[in-house]
Amino acid sequence: MSKKKGYKNHSFFEDGKVVLITGASSGIGKNVALALANYGTKLVIVARREKKLMQTTRQLRKLKIIVLPIIGDIRTRDDRARIIELSLKNFGRIDVLINNAGLGKANLFLEQPISEIDELIETNILGLVKMSKLVIPIMKEQNDGHIINLSSSLALLPVYPFAVYCATKSAVKTFSDCIREEVKAYGIKVSTVFPGPYGTEFHKVAGLDDSSYQSYSVSRLAEKIARLVIKPKENLIQPWFFIPLIWITTRFRFIKRKITLLISRSIMEGKIKKGKLESMKKEEKLKITVKTP
Ligand SMILES: NC(=O)c1ccc[n+]([C@@H]2O[C@H](COP(=O)([O-])OP(=O)(O)OC[C@H]3O[C@@H](n4cnc5c(N)ncnc54)[C@H](OP(=O)(O)O)[C@@H]3O)[C@@H](O)[C@H]2O)c1
Repeated sequence: MSKKKGYKNHSFFEDGKVVLITGASSGIGKNVALALANYGTKLVIVARREKKLMQTTRQLRKLKIIVLPIIGDIRTRDDRARIIELSLKNFGRIDVLINNAGLGKANLFLEQPISEIDELIETNILGLVKMSKLVIPIMKEQNDGHIINLSSSLALLPVYPFAVYCATKSAVKTFSDCIREEVKAYGIKVSTVFPGPYGTEFHKVAGLDDSSYQSYSVSRLAEKIARLVIKPKENLIQPWFFIPLIWITTRFRFIKRKITLLISRSIMEGKIKKGKLESMKKEEKLKITVKTP
């Protein structure tokens, strides 16, 4: 199998490191798994939809990758325990945990059902935190490990129709920043990824029409995350031009408000196109006065 140019001599390949990716049946997780095929890691891939997860598995096996698919829900205690148990039984170690499984729900907070709020918090925060809680002792024992948490650029640019989602992704950022300091002493690294809008199933699951705004190609993002596995760094913001955008908005509150309202408006439009007319009425009531360019 061809190894990625420039990383040929990295010990990662010789050691046959084990990477556990949650949410690998579609989107970013699936593409990161495929990108990692270039680095010769062993993979544990997790998701709830068996058919889709097995599609990823077949694609990886065609690339001669050793892969263990596990059908599981990261919100469930038994499933989390089974994921760890099977990973250790098959590979004896877990070197990298990519906490990618997650979802968004575009909704006004006032309209959002409690079931949606529960799903967002249980998956994006509790699932991620509890997976980390199980894996850190293993990495501590190995005196080596790396946790990569998927946050979102919306953690840094909060938009109102995604209030609970943004809150969960801010929590991911804060959690990563805190544990990074605590686990450093045991040789464990922690990275946070802040993607902008990428073309995955995310928008469909969130209840949005993806034609209403720009989204970027997921394979390039996946490649960057795969490189993070080899060369850890604390934060990865993608696409790159979100770095100056976020920098400007954190310094100038007026610009931040303008931009977040513009994004909010395009999200609302995406929802309206999906026929969610109640949201349109609510939006009128909120009197959002930002003009689209
Ligand atoms: N795409 C974007 O624009 C974007 C931007 C910023 C951040 N993100 C973040 O990136 C991550 C990946 O999203 P994506 O864009 O790739 O969306 P996606 O295509 O919908 O993928 C989400 C993945 O998470 C899995 N998943 C969801 N809930 C799960 C659960 N309870 N247990 C196990 N697996 C679960 C899904 O698989 P099953 O349904 O088969 O379980 C799927 O494989 C998410 O954390 C998301 O918040 C995405």
